[in-house]
Formats: sequence, structure tokens, C-alpha cells
Amino acid sequence: MQPHNPLPPLTLIVATTPIRVSEEVTRLGIGLKGTLPWPRIKTDMSFFARVTSRPPTADKTNAMIMGRKTYDSVPASLRPLAKRTSIIISRDTTGSVQESVRKELEKRKEKLAAKAAEAKAKAPSEVVADPETDAFVVHSLDAAIRELGAREELGKVYVIGGAEIYNASLNMKRDELQGRGLRVVMTNVVRKDGEPFECDTFFPLDKLDEGNGWRTASPTEVSEWVGEEVDGEWKSEGDVEVQMVGFEKI
Ligand SMILES: NC(=O)c1ccc[n+]([C@@H]2O[C@H](COP(=O)([O-])OP(=O)(O)OC[C@H]3O[C@@H](n4cnc5c(N)ncnc54)[C@H](OP(=O)(O)O)[C@@H]3O)[C@@H](O)[C@H]2O)c1
Repeated sequence: MQPHNPLPPLTLIVATTPIRVSEEVTRLGIGLKGTLPWPRIKTDMSFFARVTSRPPTADKTNAMIMGRKTYDSVPASLRPLAKRTSIIISRDTTGSVQESVRKELEKRKEKLAAKAAEAKAKAPSEVVADPETDAFVVHSLDAAIRELGAREELGKVYVIGGAEIYNASLNMKRDELQGRGLRVVMTNVVRKDGEPFECDTFFPLDKLDEGNGWRTASPTEVSEWVGEEVDGEWKSEGDVEVQMVGFEKI
């Protein structure tokens, strides 16, 4: 009998901060005015970049599924993000989102090729080929998932936000997931002075516990998921502390 090879899980990767809205309810803030609620946190940004761009094998490229607003929140000079395939979800039917993504991809690839050529000229023997950079637009999360199945070059699959796309992912039915598991890799962010960040966009779940069908993964499991050591300890950076944790849908 052929060994059963399950499809890679959908891993939601998100940075959240607790916002107490009442005695009983604490929500998880993720955004403010189209961007992140906090100034740049290097520890988290470099974790995100390493994890999402590290493919499971050298012949693969990881996929990142995102809403059009999250794509637009990436600085223009950095999008689409290098060494990954960006799958942008938009309802736009005029073709304008598709056209601007196509143009940005073309420009980005030209720049990355020039940089690679420069590195090769300097030290030919040290150059290791990077995963491909690609981007395309689809009209639904369902279409994004179907596209994953059609592209053999894709490795791990990350859902990188924002709230609308996290929500759609968390609401996918078992058959729509085609047997894929559902995981969350979360960076908890708190201010050292205990004050909350201002947020206008929230993760769709306030809690991920057994009560709503989730279990907390051990640091060893999270390390296996992301391909580097995650110890689950709080780390200090400037005015904030961050902690990386993981959850799996039961
Ligand atoms: N903390 C974090 O880790 C994190 C991660 C990501 C984002 N964020 C933050 O989250 C905020 C953005 O989140 P958001 O919820 O406002 O936007 P979003 O999910 O990034 O994008 C929303 C857009 O996606 C498209 N879309 C959504 N649902 C769709 C569907 N069912 N079918 C087709 N297209 C669909 C629509 O694009 P069109 O309008 O083009 O039709 C919609 O306007 C920003 O503040 C960002 O910085 C935070």
C-alpha cells in the first residue's frame, strides 16, 4: 500500500497583543490604521522572515496567503516579499490589483536578479540559489487552496493575515481544507510599562484553548513546525517583550 502523505497544514502566522475590553473579555489586537499597532520589532520581523522563507527542501518555495490590504501594508520597495510565493486574495474584478501585483513582481525580480549577479561576481563559489520569488492574485481563499494543489514547487503554506483572511481560514470546513491541518504560530507582544497598544483590527479568536477546539503545542513541536528553535520564553526588545507560541486545531 502507498504510504499516506498528508498535505502540508495551513499555518496562520500572526503577532498579537492583548486588549482588555471588559472584565471577562480580552481580545487579541493585530493592526491599527492599515499597519501594525507597534513600531518595528526586529525580533518578530526577522522571525517572520526566516520562518516564512525557509522551505522544507531546497527545491521548494513556501507559499504565503494574504488579503489585499496586508499585501498593501508591506513597504512598496519590499513587495512582493522575496524568496516566497505571495498569493493575494482580492474581490477586484477590474484587473487593476492583478496588474499592479504583476508590475511590482517584475520590478522586484529584476532587482533580486541584479543583486544575485553582483553576489556571484564577488564570490562565485559561495552563492547558493534562493527560493523563487513569485506572486499572483486569486478571488477567494478556496481558489488559493486549489492553486496550492496545482503547484508542485510550493512547500510550506503560511496564512499571513489580515483579520479577514485569518477569519476565512479559521472558518474553512474540513473538506475545503482537503485534509490539511490547521496551526497557529503566534508572537505575543506586550509593552513593558503594562499599557495596551491602540488597535482597530483583531485576530478572530480571543482564546485558543480546548474550550474552542485548540491545543497548545510544546516548544519542541513549534520548533519542528518552523524549522528553528523556539523556546517559548519571553524576550526583551526596547519597550516591549515578545514570546513565540503555537496552537493546533484538535
Ligand atoms: N499582527 C499581525 O501579525 C498582522 C498580520 C497581517 C496583517 N495585520 C494587520 O491587519 C490589518 C489588515 O487586515 P484586514 O482584515 O483589514 O485586511 P486583509 O485581510 O489583509 O485584506 C482584506 C482584503 O482582502 C480581500 N478579501 C477579504 N476576504 C475576501 C474574500 N472572502 N474573497 C475575496 N477577497 C477577500 C479584499 O480585498 P479587495 O478590497 O481588494 O477586494 C479585502 O479588502 C492591517 O492593519 C495589517 O497591518 C497584522
